Amino acid sequence: MSLLPALSVVCALVLHVCFGAVDAHYSVPRKTVPYHHELKLFREEGIFNYSTMLVRDDLGVLLLGAREAIYALDINNISVRKAEVYWRVTEEKQRECTYKGKQAEVECRNYIRTLHRVNDTTMYVCGTNAFSPTCDYMTFANGQLRLEGKQEEGKGKCPFDPFQRYSSLMVGNDLYSATSINFLGSEPVVLRSSNLALRTEFKSSWLSEPNFVYMDFVDESFESPEGDDDKVYLFFSENAMEYDFYSKVAVSRVARVCKGDMGGQRTLQRKWTSFLKARLDCSLPEPSLPPIVQDVFLLKHKDWRKSVFYAVFTPQSSLSQASAVCSYSVSAIRDIFNEGKFKTPVAVETSHVKWVMYTGEVPVPRPGACINNVAHKLGMNRSLDLPDKTLQFIRDRPLMDEAVRPLTGGPLLVKRGALLTRIVVDSVLALDGNRYDVMFIGTENGYIQKAVNYAGEMFIIEEIQLFENPESISILRLSSSKGLLYAGSEFGAVQMPVSNCSRYESCVDCVLARDPYCAWDSSTEQCSSAPSDNAVQSLEGDVIRCPLPDPVSAVDFTLVPGNNIQLPCQLPSNLARVHWRFSHQTLHSNNKYYIYSGGLLLFNASESDSGMYACDSIEQINSRTYNQTVVIYNLKLTPGPADEDNSSPDKEGENSANHRPNTAAPEPVSDNPLAPENRSSTSRLMTLQVTVALLSLVCFSLTGVICWMCIHGQWKCSKFAKSSSQIEEQRQSVEYMHIPNRTSDIKLLGAESERPCSANNNHSGVDFKRNGGHHFTPMANISSLDGLGYINDESEI
Ligand SMILES: *[C@@H]1O[C@H](CO)[C@@H](O)[C@H](O)[C@H]1NC(C)=O
Ligand SMILES: *[C@@H]1O[C@H](CO)[C@@H](O)[C@H](O)[C@H]1NC(C)=O
Ligand SMILES: *[C@@H]1O[C@H](CO)[C@@H](O)[C@H](O)[C@H]1NC(C)=O
Ligand SMILES: *[C@@H]1O[C@H](CO)[C@@H](O)[C@H](O)[C@H]1NC(C)=O
Ligand SMILES: *[C@@H]1O[C@H](CO)[C@@H](O)[C@H](O)[C@H]1NC(C)=O
Repeated sequence: MSLLPALSVVCALVLHVCFGAVDAHYSVPRKTVPYHHELKLFREEGIFNYSTMLVRDDLGVLLLGAREAIYALDINNISVRKAEVYWRVTEEKQRECTYKGKQAEVECRNYIRTLHRVNDTTMYVCGTNAFSPTCDYMTFANGQLRLEGKQEEGKGKCPFDPFQRYSSLMVGNDLYSATSINFLGSEPVVLRSSNLALRTEFKSSWLSEPNFVYMDFVDESFESPEGDDDKVYLFFSENAMEYDFYSKVAVSRVARVCKGDMGGQRTLQRKWTSFLKARLDCSLPEPSLPPIVQDVFLLKHKDWRKSVFYAVFTPQSSLSQASAVCSYSVSAIRDIFNEGKFKTPVAVETSHVKWVMYTGEVPVPRPGACINNVAHKLGMNRSLDLPDKTLQFIRDRPLMDEAVRPLTGGPLLVKRGALLTRIVVDSVLALDGNRYDVMFIGTENGYIQKAVNYAGEMFIIEEIQLFENPESISILRLSSSKGLLYAGSEFGAVQMPVSNCSRYESCVDCVLARDPYCAWDSSTEQCSSAPSDNAVQSLEGDVIRCPLPDPVSAVDFTLVPGNNIQLPCQLPSNLARVHWRFSHQTLHSNNKYYIYSGGLLLFNASESDSGMYACDSIEQINSRTYNQTVVIYNLKLTPGPADEDNSSPDKEGENSANHRPNTAAPEPVSDNPLAPENRSSTSRLMTLQVTVALLSLVCFSLTGVICWMCIHGQWKCSKFAKSSSQIEEQRQSVEYMHIPNRTSDIKLLGAESERPCSANNNHSGVDFKRNGGHHFTPMANISSLDGLGYINDESEI
């Protein structure tokens, strides 16, 4: 028995206890699906940053934009490449870019950032093109991708800096984009490129060092009794102006503009007359600075009033590690913009301005409103007809007083561990006739969290590892009609089905999964995504309609006196507790037994230890407790010599958690690669016991410190992880000490992870905490006291 596994078990337990205590109300995925090679992957040698996608159901392709390349991939199997086109920077462009102080091989390349549908055959594409953004038309016809070579100016449509977040949207022939319009990245703009181009005013009260994350379109003119216009919604984070802090605080925002906006006649000429913004509220259960929006998905409903935005938030301070998902109803956001109060700046001291609720009279037509029936009645048919009073008001007060509150009052999901990065949501019709919104959330370590909020109860059905290495998911797209999800990272793109019900092998397993895509089909005895009418599904996790499971038959196991014995038991769920029984008596960890997440260790076995050992899984679902016997071992004394000893009978242990142990006889001893090492001597055993005891003592006494350090992201695990990965390599065939492969644990113990525990220390790649904010050049006239509040308007440009 080697020391390192023992060490990892003990420390895993300590950390588990530590995180368990902290995590009490943070969701743990019920199942963990490790990386498997059947996932369909696309990557090309030498090409990186697969971060732009356009799903073309009509053409049967997924268009994938990477660095200097665009691919058309088979929408059903993205491993199949149908066409590609390369768009490399010219040497001249690259030289110019490096002269300006940028890195040739990283920044001075062409990152494809914009991919929009124009019509049946044509797309609009933009790339950063070595800090010289350029756009072009691209066609996909006769199996060929072709760039037209138009080389349109891309300033304001696409960022200069490939590390800067941005967003864009095509509505009809108009391109809406939110990015910065200058080389330094210091002049943010929300732009509509159309016959009548419109943009935001360059004032910090409109946009203050923003990070744009998402845009979408809502057809609010549809059956509107007020004669309202369609809107484009924009999500971003920026420096707060409404708080009295001495340092910069970021807040999350939603803003919107009207589709029919044409700007003002004198005031706000060629500028939005309908740009309004409000703070997005998503409070975490622990006190913290406002969390930062990272990505949004609009779950569209036929009636736009029922459409819902889902947003992912991450903490802005490294003191917290909890990400969250909040949802907002379109109609609630609209009500705040259409009826809410405004904020207004007031000077409290000579240099200090505070933003407070505006209580004075609001001009008519209402500032920021689209041209609606009210305006028409006043004879104003276009924004150009709006009076100066209305326009001046909105130019100086684009911020609403009230924040937008989440639809459910609080977050739908709070998750500790690896930060959440991207989200898509699918609306699923379950057998009970209701629709459930299933969230697929990408993480910075290459997992998808598949989660549902069942009437206030946060539930993560499973987490699926999409990338073999912990790569951040930088884009997620959903094809609801195909039932497929596409994820991109720096190193590749992966396709995954929205569900794989065949992973659930029994009725109980299928029902306890609480996956609205899956139900147990009694006729075929399979967990299926297209079940027949009398299928069993209970999203509350009630297994009453399942047939009784077959009794578990005992696995014979040889007991060698004086030896230590390991009895593996893999629980079917991360949420379950383990319960070991030995001839009707409950076992607890003590100096004789050691219970860990992967099984039971029995030290220094003697004759009296022979008998039946049962491992039960106890899972609490919705105040119901579900007990399940996972495996039973029959320990029998052997009359043979000592080389029969074998403390690892079960090679199935490494399989997925839902795998029922088979009842076949244990593997022959000679096959066991560990056999020589396992020939125990008393001294070895003593060493182990002493070590375990010692380690427990040390680890437990340090629990507080470790917890604190892990939470604060200071604890480096690389050394530990490396040593355990070496062990892993030696013992691939037998998962000797299985540590559940949870995301949160991976950060601490995962064999591949050679990174520090905390992502906060990770300054490579996209910086999610600060959204690449360190690439922003602060505006020149922001004083060191800017946190105090309002920055005086910058001179108009
Ligand atoms: C997907 O494409 C790859 C590469 O051509 C091929 O090896 C694989 O069998 C395909 N899978 C399916 C399910 O068609
Ligand atoms: C699609 O749009 C492009 C660019 O605007 C145009 O040249 C082309 O004729 C259009 N094609 C069709 C089929 O409408
Ligand atoms: C693109 O990928 C490369 C290789 O991993 C990485 O070094 C670079 O930082 C990435 N660039 C962006 C903009 O993410
Ligand atoms: C606005 O439109 C109405 C009806 O279309 C028209 O009667 C009116 O003259 C227009 N007003 C202006 C100022 O153009
Ligand atoms: C679904 O799960 C089964 C069992 O784990 C696996 O064999 C199969 O490849 C999976 N299918 C897909 C499409 O991932």
